Amino acid sequence: MAEEIEWWDFDAAEDLIDAVVGDVSFIIESALDARGQALVAFPGGSTPKPILEKLAQANIRWKNVTIIPTDDRLVPVDNPLSNVAMIAKIFIPKGARVLPIASDAADYKLAGSAANARLADLHWPPDLVWLGMGTDGHTASIFPGSDLESAMDSGKDVRAVGVAPDPLPPEAPVNRVTLTGTAIGAARTTILVISGAKKREVLETAIEQGGKSSYPVGRVLDKIVVPVDIYCLDD
Ligand code: 6PG
Repeated sequence: MAEEIEWWDFDAAEDLIDAVVGDVSFIIESALDARGQALVAFPGGSTPKPILEKLAQANIRWKNVTIIPTDDRLVPVDNPLSNVAMIAKIFIPKGARVLPIASDAADYKLAGSAANARLADLHWPPDLVWLGMGTDGHTASIFPGSDLESAMDSGKDVRAVGVAPDPLPPEAPVNRVTLTGTAIGAARTTILVISGAKKREVLETAIEQGGKSSYPVGRVLDKIVVPVDIYCLDD
């Protein structure tokens, strides 16, 4: 399990947004100071959007920042389900480099290989992987189903794979590409941002269960060796 897990609880969305924006800005600026460039992975879904919008206003040298989605839905970029489209709309105007990981390969496994090939060119490991979580305990697009094991670990050089969630999540019932558990575990820093009592309960159970958790997020947290900050908005 992550060496140390720190929970930050918030009653007001604005307070959570300010805290995450402050901490992520600090992580990015520190990477820029240390290495002149930063590589960060941001999640999709609805929770991160207002936080990303505020983050984009921060006084950061965005031109030296590369952003990838932690995972993406295999849909065309003009589809509202596209994670990279949401991220690109917010950060391209700021001058950041936003790289898609989804492609239009007919087969989701081929899409995963294509994503992996694209990520092979990047300065690794990511300075930050920012995770979200679903009420089913998935994180990034590491879902229950027959691709769970390959999504967790396909060898240390495999950064992304294709996934067919089983069952398909109702809010976005499509196949995905995702960073692997191994790639997430290699990140220099990791944060997890969730909202609501239901997710909190799932996450607490997953952490208790650890590496053998029935929830993917428990297994992913088990692979992370750096401290993890969890930001939770209470309903
Ligand atoms: C995705 C995600 C995913 C997301 C959670 C939470 O594309 O599905 O990146 O891991 O973060 O499903 O999504 P919500 O914030 O919309 O509940």
